[in-house]
Amino acid sequence: MKTLLPAKNGLHGTLMVPGDKSISHRAIMLGAISHGETMIHHFLNGEDCRSTMQAFRELGVVIEQADNDVLVHGHGFNHLRPAAKPLNMGNSGTTTRLMMGILAGTPFATTLVGDSSLQRRPMERVSQPLKAFGGEIELASSGTLPAKVIGHPLHHAEYHMTVASAQVKSALIFAALQADGKSTIIEKLPTRNHTEIMLQQFGAEITTSNERIISVTPQPHLTGQVVEVPGDISSAAFFLVAGTIVPNSELTLQRVNLNPTRTGIIQVLQKMGAKLSIEELPTKGEPLGNITVKSSELQPINVGAAMIPSLIDELPLVALLAACANGQSKITGAEELRVKETDRIKTVVEELRKLGVHVEELPDGMIIDGQATWQVCNSQLASHGDHRIGMMDAVAALKASDELTLTDEKAINISYPDFFTDLETLAGRN
Ligand code: S3P
Repeated sequence: MKTLLPAKNGLHGTLMVPGDKSISHRAIMLGAISHGETMIHHFLNGEDCRSTMQAFRELGVVIEQADNDVLVHGHGFNHLRPAAKPLNMGNSGTTTRLMMGILAGTPFATTLVGDSSLQRRPMERVSQPLKAFGGEIELASSGTLPAKVIGHPLHHAEYHMTVASAQVKSALIFAALQADGKSTIIEKLPTRNHTEIMLQQFGAEITTSNERIISVTPQPHLTGQVVEVPGDISSAAFFLVAGTIVPNSELTLQRVNLNPTRTGIIQVLQKMGAKLSIEELPTKGEPLGNITVKSSELQPINVGAAMIPSLIDELPLVALLAACANGQSKITGAEELRVKETDRIKTVVEELRKLGVHVEELPDGMIIDGQATWQVCNSQLASHGDHRIGMMDAVAALKASDELTLTDEKAINISYPDFFTDLETLAGRN
């Protein structure tokens, strides 16, 4: 159990957040299926990305690591070897789903297992569309892990996606790379495009038109690259929100990824009236910049389906911002939250209610009545084993008038092992 202290003097200073989780996963994966060395700098050394690294080691790929620098020795798709035992995906949905696309075209079978949260998450959303490419995945009868990916030669396809998911899209792209002809994947809504951008960098022919029609030319010769992982906007978001809602704060987050498929939280902050400025930095890879925020009074907001993919992981924070705003806010079209590490509609509502916030649960979102100050009715906050819920609680606690506690705070190691150290530094307590 962790004690959470209010930040009575506000938050101040400059911080470089850890590397982007989505990009770190993909850098290992692309390094493994490419030829030659891939050097990854500012790799996110959290539990989820370590699950990806370990899985590839068990598939025969040599990977060296020194803190946040990782060197992958790739020999192409054809050099992946059968694993001696089931691959443990830990808590990582991204590892599991992207891996399914990579393994679908291998000449062997692989079993994937995961922790209790991952075992509850839907996997038919990947196994079904992969069938269009000739993929074969056996799941438990509940459509969940354990999964047995039975590798086969794959064929090309045109596939219209029915869920807005970058994980599913990426799995299909990995299958399409191994197919016998050109494939087209049509997204329901545009989602994060890190797989596409990184594949182009590694030498694949992959194009996107109308923001959501992706064409993949198969059997590219992929060559290892140097990948500089930018700061994770999903981690930066906790401090952007903290700097906004905690009085007397001003802080800067450096070298944060500003890929437009990920910046919905910045749009929300701006629409709500947050004092935020961005300094874009020159880069050869994905866009990045320094973001400065100051404490601000907030207006309520309505967030609907079209915006959800660009802030899917930040929705707990949008709810927290709304809980501080001057009026009623509404989030809809966010039913995907129900199948994250926890049912994030349920867990967010439960945690905000402990703080005394009036929240109504909707099937696909929530209605939140904002208040300048809260009357805390239960001081024992809980991560529910979900890293992003634990960090949302810790940010909320900065604004409370008294100490609160957080149970199962270790869940935060999934994506941000140094979160509390960074928080204490900005609060002037280190
Ligand atoms: C991710 C995609 C999103 C996101 C997850 C990471 C990725 O999941 O929530 O944290 O790296 O592709 P969905 O594809 O399920 O929306």
